[in-house]
Amino acid sequence: MGREMILVLDFGGQYNQLIARRVRECNVYCEVHPYTMSLEEIRAMEPKGIIFTGGPNSVYEEGAPSYERGIYDLGIPILGICYGSQLMAASLGGLVTAAPVSEYGKTEVKVDTSSKLFEGVYENTVCWMSHTDYIARVPEGFLVTARTKVCPAAAMACPERRLYAVQFHPEVMHTVQGKLMLSNFVLKICGCRGDWKMGSFVEESVRTLREKIGDGKVLCALSGGVDSSVAAVLLSKAVGRQLTCVFVDHGLLRKNEGDEVEAVFGPEGPYDLNFIRVNAAERFYARLAGVTEPERKRKIIGEEFIRVFEEEAKKIGAVDFLVQGTIYPDVIESGLGKSAVIKSHHNVGGLPDTVDFREIVEPLRMLFKDEVRDAGRELGIPEYLVSRQPFPGPGLGIRIIGEVTPEKVRIVQDADYIFREEVAKAGVDRNLAQYFAALSNMRSVGVMGDGRTYDYAVVLRAVTTSDFMTAESAPIPWDVMTRITNRIVNEVKGVNRVLYDYTGKPPATIELE
Ligand code: XMP
Repeated sequence: MGREMILVLDFGGQYNQLIARRVRECNVYCEVHPYTMSLEEIRAMEPKGIIFTGGPNSVYEEGAPSYERGIYDLGIPILGICYGSQLMAASLGGLVTAAPVSEYGKTEVKVDTSSKLFEGVYENTVCWMSHTDYIARVPEGFLVTARTKVCPAAAMACPERRLYAVQFHPEVMHTVQGKLMLSNFVLKICGCRGDWKMGSFVEESVRTLREKIGDGKVLCALSGGVDSSVAAVLLSKAVGRQLTCVFVDHGLLRKNEGDEVEAVFGPEGPYDLNFIRVNAAERFYARLAGVTEPERKRKIIGEEFIRVFEEEAKKIGAVDFLVQGTIYPDVIESGLGKSAVIKSHHNVGGLPDTVDFREIVEPLRMLFKDEVRDAGRELGIPEYLVSRQPFPGPGLGIRIIGEVTPEKVRIVQDADYIFREEVAKAGVDRNLAQYFAALSNMRSVGVMGDGRTYDYAVVLRAVTTSDFMTAESAPIPWDVMTRITNRIVNEVKGVNRVLYDYTGKPPATIELE
């Protein structure tokens, strides 16, 4: 039984990977490729179905992304989404024009439930719209299968040719029954079995990594976080002792973290990773002295990281590949896709131009966080590591507003330790996606004993989120907060105030810098 796959052809839409993720949730393997991929290449991949993504252009614009008509004659089911739906309409003789008014946001859609795509969907359902053009007339042989107040053809279908199109975005959560529509397409229209599992991702990755790496030497940047731990164990499974894992203790880790990571992944732990720990705090502090601008700090930490790796690589000799645990949200938020640069996560956008390795390998680049955790479970990594909260590569460097000094690092480490300890003790950590202490650059007057203090304010932050792209500030019971605050001001020298950050993302971000 061959592997079944759905091909997502990317026309520049911002939700391309989300579509892939939703398909994987139907237990069908999925890959995203640019629309410039040739018809021959598509044929060779033998997809069971094709999905056209949305995109920022108008199909009638000069030079707008398009695809040769032959794709509709392959006999492979196609689902066009947003721009993809307009492209299908325009290519097959329909008419696409500017809509009289743009539709944006949650929109009431009336669907024809006899269409296979809408089986089980309510006749009146809410979908997410984001468009200025629309299909004014469907091509010959197509039926209109959904309408809105604005769109005379919010969906269309030619069931004989298994061609389907929707103006709205079934992949986003705001389309209430979007998952059902995508599962109808993948399972009922394309006829996929739906028997793909994360375990297959692991097997497949192990196979392709072996092919790619051959007998080359691999260096993995292991931080002990979920992503790099999963990447390291995956690589170890693929190439065994060709892999060396370098753990850089940059002096910006949480309290005791260096030793904890070494205990799990070092020679005394259950894995055989050729683990090397480099204690490099001094050189990071030296390079960060006097630097206050967040992006500059990120770049410095990212660069210094790579320099340390290069040095280790030279000691090992002839290292061909560098492995990084980059995951999909890192890629988009670093502006490597089409979206604006929000932060250059050091493991992607912050890389220096000259890197001394033949190639960088990022086996988790297409996965969302919860998918990475699933892959970790498949690999047998213990639950307490797999479900760990994320910790940014630049570490406490971006949780200290302004200049980083060893003294400030000590303050955040101690405050953060107390915060985590009390939150766990109170059992509220299970609902939190990420929670930590940061150090504001604010010093203010306080009174302790009978004396005046002029000390720092610690900021506590706790958020809930499923994908880290948006987040809500999480409520922590008042009595727990009181206990934490008392402990921090009493036990951490240099702190006389504790503040709580109530802001969501957007408009804030999760980290303070
Ligand atoms: P933000 O602050 O962008 O965080 O809302 C989203 C997620 O990304 C993590 N993060 C980083 N991870 N390098 C990383 O490896 C970075 O520079 C970085 N900045 C933020 C953050 O902890 C959260 O999980």
